[in-house]
Amino acid sequence: MKILAIETSCDETAISILQINSGKFKILSNIVSSQVKIHAKWGGVVPSLAKREHLKNLPLILKKALKEAKIKTPPKSIDLIAVTAGPGLEPALWTGINMAKELAAKWKKPLLPINHMEGHLFSVFLKENKSFKFSAHGGPALSWPAIILLVSGGHTELILISAPGRPALGWKYKLLGSTRDDAAGEAFDKVAKMMKLGYPGGPIVAKLASNYRGRTSLVLPRPMINDNSPTGKYDFSFSGLKTAVLYKLKEFPKITASIKKEMCHEFQQAVIDVLIAKTMRAVREHNAKTILIGGGVAANNELRRQFEKVANNCDSKYMLLLPEMKFTGDNATMIALAAYFRWLALSEVEGKKTSPSGRGLKANGNLKIA
Ligand code: KG4
Ligand code: ZN
Repeated sequence: MKILAIETSCDETAISILQINSGKFKILSNIVSSQVKIHAKWGGVVPSLAKREHLKNLPLILKKALKEAKIKTPPKSIDLIAVTAGPGLEPALWTGINMAKELAAKWKKPLLPINHMEGHLFSVFLKENKSFKFSAHGGPALSWPAIILLVSGGHTELILISAPGRPALGWKYKLLGSTRDDAAGEAFDKVAKMMKLGYPGGPIVAKLASNYRGRTSLVLPRPMINDNSPTGKYDFSFSGLKTAVLYKLKEFPKITASIKKEMCHEFQQAVIDVLIAKTMRAVREHNAKTILIGGGVAANNELRRQFEKVANNCDSKYMLLLPEMKFTGDNATMIALAAYFRWLALSEVEGKKTSPSGRGLKANGNLKIA
């Protein structure tokens, strides 16, 4: 089966065509056109500019994707169209949704709306040209329960999947906790902005942090790390950490390059310490066997390295699944894969005749996964 997926939730215009045959994926096309340079000037994503760029890019990218996948229009071989319906910036989401609806009507194809965060979750399974191990339940073969940590520019969430089940529809997500203010990626972006390092902040802060060696005298708080209360033990708060960086910077008459490196290092470590502590608390308390990490912040090398160390050094062994670097940021291939599992589940429930038309489909900036 071939799926064409469209992703426009933020500042990447992305279209992918994914072919899946008996558990083997082939990515026929994975195009991501980043608008980072356009938004960098403003220090963050400007929704009206994002919308304008998506509208400009989408038709060009569609043409390129079909060409790369060697598909002629009207594309008989495409079986399903998938589109991100939320969460994200609504003016941006609408551009993808409108195009998906138009194509579905013109080409007479079924259309499935997909949750962007579910896309990030499924990104851990994206391996080019590799066979995919299915469980008896039809989903990815995992040991259960599983704890999911989703860390992006807009979200920081801990989710529990207790038992296997049919993929997507049957995966019962339980939200254990989330951020009470800024998301982890957002904190990276804001701290970078404070030090005038550029946008997006994550990769720049990570690079400067990796250049710092030695012990630090700049000690930042690890917000909520010791909060073991029923309402706070899985929640995060990164806004206070960002403010702590601001106050620490004020202590110096001049912010030198070496202070910036040290600050990035300590800030990044504070975020990692909290993410690991909360995730491992969830793993222990739910006796989880698998940890999945998805979202833009999963590109952070230190985060990956330290999570791998924790997972390998524990008495009980966990399976730790991280997305390949290429699939950590926003892309449409993860949306296509999430759509595949939803499609399988839907076909099972409603029979092969299932043909969602996408009529009434709306952008939902606050769409929840659980
Ligand atoms: O998932 P994503 O591409 O978009 C959203 O859905 O939000 O995540 C973007 C976020 C940004 O805040 C960016 O600064 C952060 O991911 N990010 C990183 C790194 N690369 C991207 N954060 C920390 N370290 C990185 N290497
Ligand atoms: Zn994302």
